[in-house]
Amino acid sequence: MDTAGCAIVTGAGSGIGRACARRLGAAGLAVAALDANGEAAAETAAAVPGAAAFTADVTDETQVATAVGEATARFGSPKVLVNAAGIIVRKTLRESTVEEWRRVLDVNLTGYFVVLREVIPRMAAGGGGSIVQIASIAGHTGYGFSSYTAAKGGVLALTRQLAAELAVDGIRINSVSPGVVHSGLNRDTLSTPEIHAATVANTPVGRIGEPDDIAAAVAFLAGPDAGYITGTDLVADGGMISTIHWGEAGAQLHSFHAREQ
Ligand SMILES: NC(=O)c1ccc[n+]([C@@H]2O[C@H](COP(=O)([O-])OP(=O)(O)OC[C@H]3O[C@@H](n4cnc5c(N)ncnc54)[C@H](O)[C@@H]3O)[C@@H](O)[C@H]2O)c1
Repeated sequence: MDTAGCAIVTGAGSGIGRACARRLGAAGLAVAALDANGEAAAETAAAVPGAAAFTADVTDETQVATAVGEATARFGSPKVLVNAAGIIVRKTLRESTVEEWRRVLDVNLTGYFVVLREVIPRMAAGGGGSIVQIASIAGHTGYGFSSYTAAKGGVLALTRQLAAELAVDGIRINSVSPGVVHSGLNRDTLSTPEIHAATVANTPVGRIGEPDDIAAAVAFLAGPDAGYITGTDLVADGGMISTIHWGEAGAQLHSFHAREQ
């Protein structure tokens, strides 16, 4: 990885963003840990040598412009951006208010745009770099929560759209689609035994993901080994959306086959 310059990580105060900050810091990049929760961002920065914390709500253009400007003044032009700040509202379409829908789209999609708009010119001026957007398997398949699924589908489309637009500036852009990962986002659901068990049962590798599983994929896409990869999505979900989950009927299907032989 080109370690000159800095990595800006949004949502760096928790979960996947924090793990990305740690990974990129360990790879030698100066990390700007950005989060709406300033205390959480400061905790991350304290755990990553040479990192600094920046408090900004990604939906607020002024706060983002100030934070990205300060990070660039301190560390030099951004070489890596990880867009990870996100929220979820677990409601069906009929249960959702317009306000809740707008907030989810605002943070999870427009927030990515607001940060991209500030970072891209600085990254281009510094000779290019690599952007990784945290999407979700919810952008590939239905997942139960319309606003979240719509926002993540938007992230996948935006990432593809920008590949050609940014290539002229030496910038690659890709996304990672996590499956179900232990983090602040789903601490509530995964602490429910039935949901935990159903999640493991629907994950072929047999366990729930950890933030560092996702950070490893992000670090790969951000680094030189992915130098010929842009405009694509890397699903990191333990196989969850790779298959139809038959449950116990799967064993029966195989036994039918065995009987025929
Ligand atoms: N955990 C999962 O299972 C999972 C699966 C797929 C995708 N994701 C995505 O991964 C990303 C990271 O989420 P996580 O799972 O680590 O959750 P998390 O709740 O642990 O971390 C999210 C972080 O984003 C910050 N944040 C929220 N709104 C913000 C805003 N408006 N401005 C700035 N910061 C804000 C929070 O303060 C928090 O520190 C999100 O985009 C999420 O949608 C998570």
